[in-house]
Amino acid sequence: MRRGLGSEGLVRRHREPAKLWIAVAALVAGTIWLLLLLPRPRRHLLQGSVLQIKDVDVNKLWRSAYSNGWRASSAPRTYWPSPPTESDSSGYLRVRLNGGLNKQHSAISNAVVVAQIMNATLVLPEFDTKSFGHDESGLVDIYDVPHFMKTLQYDVRIVMSIPKITAKGNTTNLRVHKIAPPRDAPVIWYRTVALEEIKKHGAIYLTPFFHRLAEEIDDPELQRLRCRVNYHALRFKPYIMKTSSEIVTKLRSEGHFMSVHPLFELDVLESRELVLFTRKGQKIMLEYLKNVHPRNRFEERRLLGKCPLTPEEVGLILRAMGFDNTTRIYLAYSKPFAANQFMEHFAANRFMKPLKALFPRLENHTTVGPGKLDENTRGLMWSAVDYMVCLLSDIFVPTYDGPSNLANNLMGHRLYNGFQTTITPDRWALARIFTDREEGRASGFEERVRRVMFNAHFGGPHKRIHPESFYTNPWPECFCQTKAKNHGDRCPQD
Ligand SMILES: *[C@@H]1O[C@H](CO)[C@@H](O)[C@H](O)[C@H]1NC(C)=O
Ligand SMILES: *[C@@H]1O[C@H](CO)[C@@H](O)[C@H](O)[C@H]1NC(C)=O
Ligand SMILES: *[C@@H]1O[C@H](CO)[C@@H](O)[C@H](O)[C@H]1NC(C)=O
Ligand SMILES: *[C@@H]1O[C@H](CO)[C@@H](O)[C@H](O)[C@H]1NC(C)=O
Repeated sequence: MRRGLGSEGLVRRHREPAKLWIAVAALVAGTIWLLLLLPRPRRHLLQGSVLQIKDVDVNKLWRSAYSNGWRASSAPRTYWPSPPTESDSSGYLRVRLNGGLNKQHSAISNAVVVAQIMNATLVLPEFDTKSFGHDESGLVDIYDVPHFMKTLQYDVRIVMSIPKITAKGNTTNLRVHKIAPPRDAPVIWYRTVALEEIKKHGAIYLTPFFHRLAEEIDDPELQRLRCRVNYHALRFKPYIMKTSSEIVTKLRSEGHFMSVHPLFELDVLESRELVLFTRKGQKIMLEYLKNVHPRNRFEERRLLGKCPLTPEEVGLILRAMGFDNTTRIYLAYSKPFAANQFMEHFAANRFMKPLKALFPRLENHTTVGPGKLDENTRGLMWSAVDYMVCLLSDIFVPTYDGPSNLANNLMGHRLYNGFQTTITPDRWALARIFTDREEGRASGFEERVRRVMFNAHFGGPHKRIHPESFYTNPWPECFCQTKAKNHGDRCPQD
């Protein structure tokens, strides 16, 4: 489905300097270019006139982005070895899985790739009962483990626990040797250092493991393995899938809906010493908002595009784009500072009220969900449900696309599911517009927002440019074209 935005049908995003020159040539040729206030390496150039921006039919965004003949494909395209048997496996591999859903998701997908690289046997981590305070390895509670193992049966050898070894009549656990991989370790580190260790000790435990395998790997087959894990093997347990699809059905019963994934500045606080908000904690937080995080500091970070958008800002952007107050929005808001009423109240008033005023049809898993569910998953379950609802929504709006958050994976997953529309606000360009508005220079606000917003790919195939993550954008490795010019991009037979 081609979505006729602008004169070319698709408003493209130019980021590389080389393309800037092409853009300059186009300017000379007489196209009307609307430049943003300041130059910067990632400047987005708008292709089209003011008039066309006014004429953009926002309703077309409810459909998927233009695929240009690309479709998802993560099956091997070249030689792919079978996983090792028990006897020729190099040893047992365990990795530390901790943190929220996103962290666990990327760690498990890296673990599979590492196991493949090393011909190791991957040991699925059991629930770690010793840690508390944070979600710790809910893998087996959240994901459909039999499905995981079956999906990856031709890729890696997986077991549920390290077998006992029997030596001279006595049974003991194999001693697991701990290693700390370097951050973003390259494949070669696993092929040499780690391999030597696993062969020597029989079993290794990689900790910490978050971000311990480089995202950019020069072997498309390994990247495709990542996609097989991310988009095929890692499926949530049936009751999570069922709950999510019930929510989606309810939301869809009245037409299309969009999902917004808000990330508050407060997330930062939440992850530090203020995990449990005691009275003292609340005081610290208020002080922080007033002093440690003063307006000018915030402004500085914001102008660099480093602050997540607030729900109100998202609301203003969407209204400026032309979404009216009847638009249904699902707020994927799984961490409602639930431990603390004060925080909930704070978030509701400061962040939610203004959004609700713009979009009264605001829903969340409490308003459309089935109520209480099995809560044996330390909060991960609702993150999982929200993930699925965002994945299945017609439009997805992340408020923050920085590293290490749920929205990252979702963006890649939605691309993979068929270039479903994602509206990714350019926080850098928008910061100035919002600052102006707050300082009373509100004239032309909507027009300026539209100029930024309609200058995007909306989740169509696009080149990954550092620091964009492979999890956010697995194109082109995990996509193919039937009639691709480049042989490596051609869809495999069968
Ligand atoms: C893993 O096994 C394959 C096939 O058995 C072999 O070709 C490859 O060299 C092995 N890799 C390592 C790192 O041992
Ligand atoms: C088996 O274990 C027992 C008790 O732990 C110990 O006394 C014995 O020496 C062990 N035997 C061998 C062969 O290691
Ligand atoms: C939406 O806005 C219109 C006017 O622009 C108003 O009449 C209507 O009541 C609003 N709908 C909701 C649900 O607030
Ligand atoms: C969902 O929305 C309702 C009504 O706006 C609110 O009372 C509730 O706290 C929200 N739930 C969560 C988890 O944010």
